[in-house]
Amino acid sequence: MINKKKLWSKKESHNPKNRIEEIKQEPVPKHIAIIMDGNGRWAKKRALPRMAGHHEGMKTVRKVTRLVSNLGVQALTLYAFSTENWKRPKVEVDFLMKLPEEFLGTFLPELIEENVRVEMMGDREQIPAHTLYAVEKAMKETAGNDGLVLNFALNYGSRSEIMAGVKNIIRDAKSGILSEDDLSEELFSRYLMTRHLPDPDLLIRTSGEIRLSNFMLWQLAYTEFWFTDVLWPDFTEADLLEAVEAFQRRTRRFGGLTDK
Ligand code: IPE
Ligand code: IPE
Ligand code: MG
Repeated sequence: MINKKKLWSKKESHNPKNRIEEIKQEPVPKHIAIIMDGNGRWAKKRALPRMAGHHEGMKTVRKVTRLVSNLGVQALTLYAFSTENWKRPKVEVDFLMKLPEEFLGTFLPELIEENVRVEMMGDREQIPAHTLYAVEKAMKETAGNDGLVLNFALNYGSRSEIMAGVKNIIRDAKSGILSEDDLSEELFSRYLMTRHLPDPDLLIRTSGEIRLSNFMLWQLAYTEFWFTDVLWPDFTEADLLEAVEAFQRRTRRFGGLTDK
């Protein structure tokens, strides 16, 4: 069925304020997850070093966070560094591990003002101390905020997250905290790094790649996917709004039936 309101909103889309208000009249995703991809290609197109793309991508993080917070979304998970990204040249890895410090060093006051709570998920062990320090400082300083949860996936890999969850379940079973009968999907979810977050409603991946790259395999079971060719540093507020509008036009059945 054609949604008249949506057609009208398309016409109004030149005015971002109207567009945001329109979107807020319908349910927005509670949790948006983004695979921020294409920084290297963005730089290559401009004959710049890959680092320039990562640096530019940081500005997109700021814009997107602000907009998502304005939309009233509860959580935004950003894939910043995967457990596989260690395979990249050391100079690039070192640069990527400095970005959280630079990002938070510049934008933490703004995040505090916007009532954003910074969190991170990933294996902390391999993350350099200076990176962890910056992230944990931001987490502490925003711990009391109850607005958007800005969750950075840093040294995150879904398979390793699931394995760690299984190991902890076995540990708790051995020590008698758990029995086999306690095991359920709900309980398993509580052994993952997203235990306190709802599953993402919307997954966005930029840069034209159509894959998950080891991201939130358990949590994305019923998530709506939205892929775009736009490279992450070029991703705009309008692109984000387009993704949310596309989400709002979808019919989520979760395996059931609907009259729509
Ligand atoms: C995404 O951009 C950022 C990270 C993976 C850290 P890429 O660096 O993967 O950029 P492309 O895919 O090479 O263009
Ligand atoms: C996924 O992007 C990881 C992040 C965005 C942090 P990659 O660029 O590493 O993924 P592949 O290698 O193309 O699958
Ligand atoms: Mg990539």
